[in-house]
Formats: sequence, C-alpha cells, structure tokens
Amino acid sequence: MMKNYRIALLPGDGIGTEVMEAAWPVLQAVADQQDFGLVGDCLPWSCDYYLEHGVMMPPDGVEQLRAFDAIYLGAVGLPETVPDHVSLRELLLAIRQGLDLSVNERPHRLLAGVTGPLRTDKAFDILCIRENTEGEYSGAGGRVHQGGDLEVAVETSIFTRAGVERVLRYGFERARLRSGKLASVTKSNAQRHSMVFWDEMTDRVAADYPDVQVTRYHVDAIAARMITHPETLDVVVASNLFGDILTDIGAAIQGGLGFAASANINPVSGGPGMFEPVHGSAPDIVGKGLANPLATLWAGALMLQHLGEAAAAKNLMTAIEKATASGAGTPDMGGSLSTAQLAQAVQAAL
Ligand code: NAI
Ligand code: MG
Repeated sequence: MMKNYRIALLPGDGIGTEVMEAAWPVLQAVADQQDFGLVGDCLPWSCDYYLEHGVMMPPDGVEQLRAFDAIYLGAVGLPETVPDHVSLRELLLAIRQGLDLSVNERPHRLLAGVTGPLRTDKAFDILCIRENTEGEYSGAGGRVHQGGDLEVAVETSIFTRAGVERVLRYGFERARLRSGKLASVTKSNAQRHSMVFWDEMTDRVAADYPDVQVTRYHVDAIAARMITHPETLDVVVASNLFGDILTDIGAAIQGGLGFAASANINPVSGGPGMFEPVHGSAPDIVGKGLANPLATLWAGALMLQHLGEAAAAKNLMTAIEKATASGAGTPDMGGSLSTAQLAQAVQAAL
C-alpha cells in the first residue's frame, strides 16, 4: 500500500502564503515520483486569524499538530497590525516549546550557479545545529526599580544537562553521517559557568563518538572563520544565542534569506518536526511575486529527509540545483522569474 504522510500546512502571513503556494505542488510532484503521498491539511493560523479570533491559534493548537507527521510553515508576521512579540511568541515559540523542538538545523552552502558575497572560490558546506529551547533565550530574569535610578535588569541563561546533551548528541550523529568533523561553539574563557559546562558535556558525549573529530571554537573566532575559511567547517553545534547569530552569517554567505532553510526537530521523543524558510513575511515585497521560493523548497527537502524519504529529498535538491545552475532565479538572485515561475522551473527539472 502507498505510504501517505500527513502534513500540517501553515502558510502564515505575507510572502509566507506565496512561497507555500508555490512550493507545495513541487513537493507533491516529488512524492508522486517516489510513490508516496503527501496529504496536506491547511491551517489558517496567522496574524489574520489573530485579528479575527484574538489568538494566533486555537488553545488546543499544539495538540492538533501532534496528529501530523510534519509541519510545513511559510512565515508569520503582520508588523503594522500585530506586535511581533505576539505573533512570534503565541505561534512559533508556542509550537517549538509545545512540541519540544529542541534542535534547530540549518544547512549553509552555495547552490549550483549561485554567487555569494564571499570572495573565496572554495566550496563550503556547513550544517549549523542550534539549541532551540533554553540557554540565553530561556526567558529567566526580571526587572527591578523600573524607570528609577536603581533600575536593574537581569537575564539569566539556563543550560540543563539534558538540553545540552541532546543537541550535542544530535550534532555528533549528523557529523558521523557527513565528514566526521564537529565544531563545538562556546565562549568558555569569558562565560566560565555555562560554557565550561558545555565544554565538559562536549567531551562526555564525544567519548561515545570516537570516529568524530571535535574542534572547540570560541564564538567570535568561528564567526570570523565562517567568512574567511568556511570550507574548513562542517557540523557546527551552538547554543541558542550563538547559533542564532552564526546562522545569520550562514544565511548571508549562502546568498541571503532567499536560500536559508531550517528544520526544528525533537530528537528525543520524536513527533512532528517543523520545517520553514528562515525569512519572515517580508511586507515590503508582498503581493508582487518577488519572493524567492527556494528557501521554502529547501526546507521541504529537509522535511522529506526527516520523514525518511532520503531519495525524494535528494531528487528535490538536485532539481533545485539544476534550475539554479541554468540561471533560473527571482530578482533577489539577479533573475527575472516570479515566485511561481521559479518553483515551476524546479518542478520541470525533477
Ligand atoms: P523578513 O525576512 O520578512 O525580510 C527581510 C528582508 O529580506 C526584506 O527586505 C525582504 O523583502 C527580504 N526577503 C525575505 N524573504 C525573502 C524571499 N523569500 N525572497 C526575496 N526577498 C526576501 O524580515 P523582517 O522584514 O524583519 O520581518 C517581517 C515580518 O516577518 C515581521 O513581522 C517579523 O516578525 C516576521 N518574521 C517572521 C519569521 C518567521 O515566521 N519565522 C522570521 C523572521 C521575521
Ligand atoms: Mg536570527
């Protein structure tokens, strides 16, 4: 019997809806070729939904999502009307935390035919793995004497053994399947509690992976290295804040937000992952057909990979690169195709 996967489609707002509309048929075509099915269920949770219902998603939203094999998300945000902290917190962060999506994985490399901003002609292929639920973004802290001369603001990083171990372990598993190299990112010369702990955990987990070669980098040094010698890096594992910053560098060196894709995964108990382009709803280009759909397609490939459909994921990436190598591109790539046309070019290359 043909295998069917149930996918929760969350187009969201702005160009999120445009890139999803363009990318989803391509994923269906990939699935057709490989004899499995992708059954999409479109959920309208977004800022428009918020304006109508006063909430970004129904109270049992996270529970509803558990029934799916994966979540495929466009982008969320209507900054003129709904404050970003509401749309982000009540939808994206609620899903990440509710489903315990503790690993955020982002591939950074130049697709065939794409020129990035770096002058290096060496090919790079970096997989950033960011801790996604604790660390510097735990939200622990407070403010005292607000507005007065004695005002104090405290923001405490929380690093748990379970949290650090699971993201490192995931990184080692990925490194083992790739070049066997892992970079662990800290700042243990300056942050002598949390980051020394991270280093210790790295050593502990590394003992289970004698085949993986570990290098420790301070975050400032690896930030520079991603620009000067990106070809020397493979799997990079970092905390929430450090990973946030490094993945923006990664997106920049791979040609920009039009390419950056991300997977949010629960590596411990499984359940649906959430796959999305890194970019937002881009109000400045909405409704014009200017949005690059490649980040969303690439996120789709990450989803297929995670569902266990490695051949389909590979076919999709090959088709994406056939299209880019032939010069197909949206205006942000220097091309002249619309969102829909670029997605169609990828589909034609399957
Ligand atoms: P943004 O990523 O939406 O846009 C930044 C710049 O990149 C804009 O000039 C935009 O035109 C361009 N851009 C983004 N994606 C593109 C694509 N696929 N093709 C071509 N150009 C692209 O970030 P911004 O403007 O700071 O935020 C807009 C809204 O999106 C806000 O409400 C923000 O909170 C939200 N946001 C949502 C995210 C998510 O849903 N994961 C992530 C980042 C921002
Ligand atoms: Mg960021």
